[in-house]
Amino acid sequence: MAQQEPEELLELSSGTRGILEEHDLRPLWEVEDDMGHVLDDPDSDIWKWEDIQTAIDAIEEDVPIADLPPGFQRRVAVPINTANAISNTIYVGIQTVSPGETAPSHRHGANALRFTIDGHEEMKTVVAGEEFPMKDNDLITTPQWEWHDHVNDGDETAAWLDVLDLPLVLDSLNAKNTFEYHELDRQPVTKTPGYWESQYGRARDYGETKRDGIPGPFEGKCEATPPYRFGWDDTLEALRQRADNDTPDPHDGYSLSYVNPASGKPPLFPTMSFRAQLLQEETDPHFHNTTEVYFVIEGEGATHVGDEALEWSQWDVFVVAPDEIHHHDPDGEAILLGMTDRPVFEAFNLYAEAAPQ
Ligand SMILES: [Fe+2]
Ligand SMILES: [Fe+2]
Repeated sequence: MAQQEPEELLELSSGTRGILEEHDLRPLWEVEDDMGHVLDDPDSDIWKWEDIQTAIDAIEEDVPIADLPPGFQRRVAVPINTANAISNTIYVGIQTVSPGETAPSHRHGANALRFTIDGHEEMKTVVAGEEFPMKDNDLITTPQWEWHDHVNDGDETAAWLDVLDLPLVLDSLNAKNTFEYHELDRQPVTKTPGYWESQYGRARDYGETKRDGIPGPFEGKCEATPPYRFGWDDTLEALRQRADNDTPDPHDGYSLSYVNPASGKPPLFPTMSFRAQLLQEETDPHFHNTTEVYFVIEGEGATHVGDEALEWSQWDVFVVAPDEIHHHDPDGEAILLGMTDRPVFEAFNLYAEAAPQ
């Protein structure tokens, strides 16, 4: 016997319907199909660097940062896959700052990091009083509530990837991303270069935090993600050591997690985790209920998602949507930056992963 639809089974009388509507109530069987469909249902997709570059060049020609409206003084091209971001949890943007420009100092509740695409020593992200040079492939955290500005004192435009948990904070949680401008465009540089490394690097005064002014549950504790620069030379050396000595992960190749320097463990942020992945061979397919966003650090290849092949090369950005079977197939050797919302799923015991049968 065919199963009856609940609506057919439980047709309400007009009197009951009227009572429910009058009091803003609905029966469960009518609302449960709507649950989980409030957000967009993004597809896997790729944004080629040459297209991003064309867009950035056009924006840069048109718009000096100083002319942008207050609150939006960042010159950024944003890959759009939902209403306003690449995914429902992770936001990625490609930002440029031209010689002599400053993206003014501010702070907010969302977590952010920079991954330098094309930088130099005189391009600096200033976080919590320290100037961090943005050299190619450096990863620099700008954690919650820390002042940050981007200052180009060199003579070449710099570009980088911004990664934030904005869609999760603003859309899924509908939390206010409390936002504040510094009274100065450039915050005062109050620390010597390497200060935050000295607090959270490998030799340190463990158990004491030197940070203050972090509101909420992290106040006075040392587990909050600190301001930190992961220099690319160290990360690449660690990847090479792994490739020379270990066996690769079947799904992610030789994969290193960026750890939270305060805890020594991943995830880097409570909401987002990051990996440097060295691929030398085709990986095995798998799928999971989390979103993976990728940036191609170097090399080329394809990531197969379902029946589709996302063909990538250096500096492309692509996203693997939740529950899609996928595997990577590098053309020779390639290195990816992998970004995932997995910590959020794990925090709620919801993470699921499997290999296709
Ligand atoms: Fe910011
Ligand atoms: Fe995956």
